[in-house]
Amino acid sequence: MTMQADLEMVKALLDGSRKVVVLTGAGVSAESGVPTFRGREGLWKTYRPEDLARPDAFEAHPELVWEFYNWRRKLVAECEPNPAHVALAELERALPNFLLITQNVDGLHARAGSRKLMEMHGSLWQVKCTVCTHAREDFGELEDLPECPVCGHLLRPGVVWFGEPLIPGVLKLAIAQVSDADVFLSIGTSSLVQPAASFYQLAKDHGAVTVEINLDPTPNTGFMDFALHGKAGEILPELVTGLKDRAT
Ligand code: OAD
Repeated sequence: MTMQADLEMVKALLDGSRKVVVLTGAGVSAESGVPTFRGREGLWKTYRPEDLARPDAFEAHPELVWEFYNWRRKLVAECEPNPAHVALAELERALPNFLLITQNVDGLHARAGSRKLMEMHGSLWQVKCTVCTHAREDFGELEDLPECPVCGHLLRPGVVWFGEPLIPGVLKLAIAQVSDADVFLSIGTSSLVQPAASFYQLAKDHGAVTVEINLDPTPNTGFMDFALHGKAGEILPELVTGLKDRAT
């Protein structure tokens, strides 16, 4: 089947859907200029993000990990949402029952207008104390080793690192939502990191039709009902164009 025919079928699915749940990954922000995790441009200095986004790296070299996050914060602050983010915000507005679950910490979905949004790996714009309960949203410039204003201990980025559990309650909620979907879309994620990589299976087990949108095939591609290959910033605007407005 041609890509255009698949695209029309997915459009019809969205038009007839009861509940759409979307999972996004770094590929959705690639066209905004945010480096993906596993692409070549994901490297910072000589480090791979996987070597820095972890609690043991922060414990051993907090200044290096903070330098990396301050670099990412600065980089993302200069980026704008792209047509993929905008199309997903439009999709939310057109559908009666919708949830966007993102693994991205860049905040671009919210900036594009998404509100039914779960940032399952936290946010670059959150900081929290490593010792006390202080946590805040912070869009400013941070020092190399920022201190907690309450107890004076070290602050850390409010993101979920490798080897850390998700924010309490998030996984349970995500599982409930994914299980309730009748259409599940996985967009711009390499599907290599659990638990998000298995969400499609959960959706499928509960009867959903599954759709993948990615530049390249992933380990999950063969199990999807539809796989649309190309740039999210080109495919998503096409998908939402002419969609029936069924918002209540
Ligand atoms: P990855 O960097 O692993 O994968 C990005 C995916 O986006 C790849 O499959 C690319 O083919 C695809 N891609 C790139 N450009 C695209 C475009 N313009 N349109 C569509 N697809 C495109 O990023 P994630 O899958 O998000 O977790 O990584 C998952 C998690 O691993 C991250 O949230 C992060 C990480 O390391 C933590 O930090 C805990």
